[in-house]
Amino acid sequence: MEYKIKDINLASEGRRNIDWAESRMPVMMDFRKKFSETKPLAGMKIAGCLHVTKETAVLVETLIAAGAEVSWSGCNPLSTKDDIAAALAAENIAVFAWYGMSTEEFYWAIDKTLEMKPTLTLDDGADLIFRVHSDFPEQAEHIIGGTEETTTGVHRLRAMDRAGKLLYPVIAVNDAETKSDFDNVYGTGQSTLDGILRSTNIIIAGKIVVIAGYGHCGKGLAKNASGIGADVIITEVDPIQALKAAMDGFRVMEMDDAAKQGDLFITATGMKDILVERHFKVMKEGAIVCNTGHYDAEINIGELEKLAKSKREIRENNEEYTLENERRIYLLAKGRLVNLSAAEGHPSEVMDMSFANQLLSLINLAQKGKDLENKVYDIDRKQDESIASLKLSLMGYKIDTLTEEQIRYRDAYYEGT
Ligand code: ADE
Repeated sequence: MEYKIKDINLASEGRRNIDWAESRMPVMMDFRKKFSETKPLAGMKIAGCLHVTKETAVLVETLIAAGAEVSWSGCNPLSTKDDIAAALAAENIAVFAWYGMSTEEFYWAIDKTLEMKPTLTLDDGADLIFRVHSDFPEQAEHIIGGTEETTTGVHRLRAMDRAGKLLYPVIAVNDAETKSDFDNVYGTGQSTLDGILRSTNIIIAGKIVVIAGYGHCGKGLAKNASGIGADVIITEVDPIQALKAAMDGFRVMEMDDAAKQGDLFITATGMKDILVERHFKVMKEGAIVCNTGHYDAEINIGELEKLAKSKREIRENNEEYTLENERRIYLLAKGRLVNLSAAEGHPSEVMDMSFANQLLSLINLAQKGKDLENKVYDIDRKQDESIASLKLSLMGYKIDTLTEEQIRYRDAYYEGT
């Protein structure tokens, strides 16, 4: 099997990390056991473009156990864990990913996965799907459907759907409640701080932390940062989200004001140009800036570079820019998602549910994809509930069920005071 990775000698370290992740992902391991007998993905060829982490390895090996052939690339040039890529390659799995790949190599890797002529695609950020649509539209003939893991990717795919441009059906895995209410909130909330701590080792307590965006990710981050003593400021463009932030007890203001006050800036919007020249110019000496959104467009690094008279790498994943005004600004992980570039991404326990949604959605597509239209589909509510129930029971929790009488009461419209 062909592969391109950094170093195959890292395979045994990677395997130990995958074993660790498996021990934290009981839902996936339960499904693996069941589907290795029933093989619902037999005959399917899956091209995946998603961060190569220990959790992703658990997904990949579960897809294979369920009968699929798999070819994989990373969905970000700085997020691949080289030991994990090595462990997959050592198992004869086609993987084309290494940490620090160039933009050209990134697209080369995606194209390599398409050589298998996939029947299903799995995306995180929609780069693979776009590649099919823009450069290899003929591949859509054998692709039954695709899945999308992240908010940014789903937004773009919904725009393609509205424009009538989708060549095959896509399931919005991100929008499952057992995905976005957990991975985006608790996962981002913790792993982003993890990336910041690994690259800076600062104390968060007492810092003014400016979080751009109060969606699922911003909310989780704000709660965790404030939980360890930060004074959190939220910037938003959506009045409803801004109002929620205010009522959750955070200061809300425009970035033009926040820029002068923050010690640490975290962008979590999915939008470009959140931090630009006029913000860098007024930041305090020593301000730290980073991004946890999917693309590296949130911090305008070109404008920061223009303002800087010098720059040096002060620590791993931490670059010091000295501006003409003598103030220093620290950029983490080159503006790429700091949780995966400077840390290990979301913990296994939440990825357990995200990837269970991926797995069940791909099985759904394999079974029903040919009857679907070329549009973006939401996740089946029953699937969401079944994953939550399984996770709960594997965590050892029991919950109540409604009695027949209660169900009648709930559904009655004539009973009142
Ligand atoms: N996205 C965020 N965290 C991740 C992880 N641990 N593995 C794969 N994708 C992720």
